[in-house]
Amino acid sequence: MKPVRKAVLPVAGFGTRVLPATKAVPKEMLTVFDRPALQYVVDEAREAGIEHFVFVTGRGKQAIEDYFDKAFELETTLEAKKKDAILAEVRAAALPPGAASFTRQQAALGLGHAVLCARDMIGDEPFAVLLPDVIVNGKGGSCLKQMVDAYNEVGGNIIAVDEVPQERVNQYGVIDPVTAGDAGPLVKMKGMVEKPPIDKAPSRLKITGRYILQPQVFDLLATQTPGAGGEIQLTDAMQRLMSSQDFHAFKYAGQDYDCGDKLLYLEAFAAMALAHPELGAKAKAVLEGVLKKG
Ligand code: UTP
Repeated sequence: MKPVRKAVLPVAGFGTRVLPATKAVPKEMLTVFDRPALQYVVDEAREAGIEHFVFVTGRGKQAIEDYFDKAFELETTLEAKKKDAILAEVRAAALPPGAASFTRQQAALGLGHAVLCARDMIGDEPFAVLLPDVIVNGKGGSCLKQMVDAYNEVGGNIIAVDEVPQERVNQYGVIDPVTAGDAGPLVKMKGMVEKPPIDKAPSRLKITGRYILQPQVFDLLATQTPGAGGEIQLTDAMQRLMSSQDFHAFKYAGQDYDCGDKLLYLEAFAAMALAHPELGAKAKAVLEGVLKKG
């Protein structure tokens, strides 16, 4: 079985739900406490052993390419001023030479279309897709690391899921399990449903924005017709792939935060501030102070 070495990060969307913040700043670069959302996602993938990152960008997304480059003037200045701690953090953000590729999605035709743009760069091997506006705070290892470990056991295709209360299933894409009520973290799938009515949902397992896919999905994406919202949907191509390949949902340990909506972004910001290893306790006092002020 070929290992999962490469990841696709689609970053070409407009981020309309968080406008005007995203008018001149890519959504994936919005600050979540002390770093861009994308930094958390890249760190998650690096922890999982990802060696090559394919960013699918678009017009107005240059900040992303600059962020993962060496910042020569900045680093020289920090070095001269002996600001060693912050210099180390700045340097850690850059990716190793040759580890990042950038391709442009010329028009935001949908997530499936964005993934298809990475086809040549991925080639004939399994790969991860990480939606970079979702931060996952994994417990006992990053979410993608947990998924790669599961992949090394069962192969095929894997979709990260998280259990949500029944009354909220109609807000998400949920998976359709082969057998209801599987207790373990891996659940064999037979389908997916987007925003099902509460009483008709096939499960409470919400699709979270992390995938491990086989390269055959590209053949299907290439012929995929527009689906929901007139966009070429990754979900539709995965659904077709399911007729010839195994798909497992994987209940990762941890918590996900969506930065693509104004209020959820606020939640992500507060959660990452509270989870900060050095500043978490102080951040808590600040947040409590804000609530007291009313
Ligand atoms: P979203 O649907 O959350 O992003 O896609 P969006 O389209 O930017 O958001 P809204 O709905 O307008 O507010 C998830 C990820 O897929 C990327 C986005 O950049 C985001 O990181 N994406 C989406 C693309 O790269 N291309 C697309 O055509 C659509």
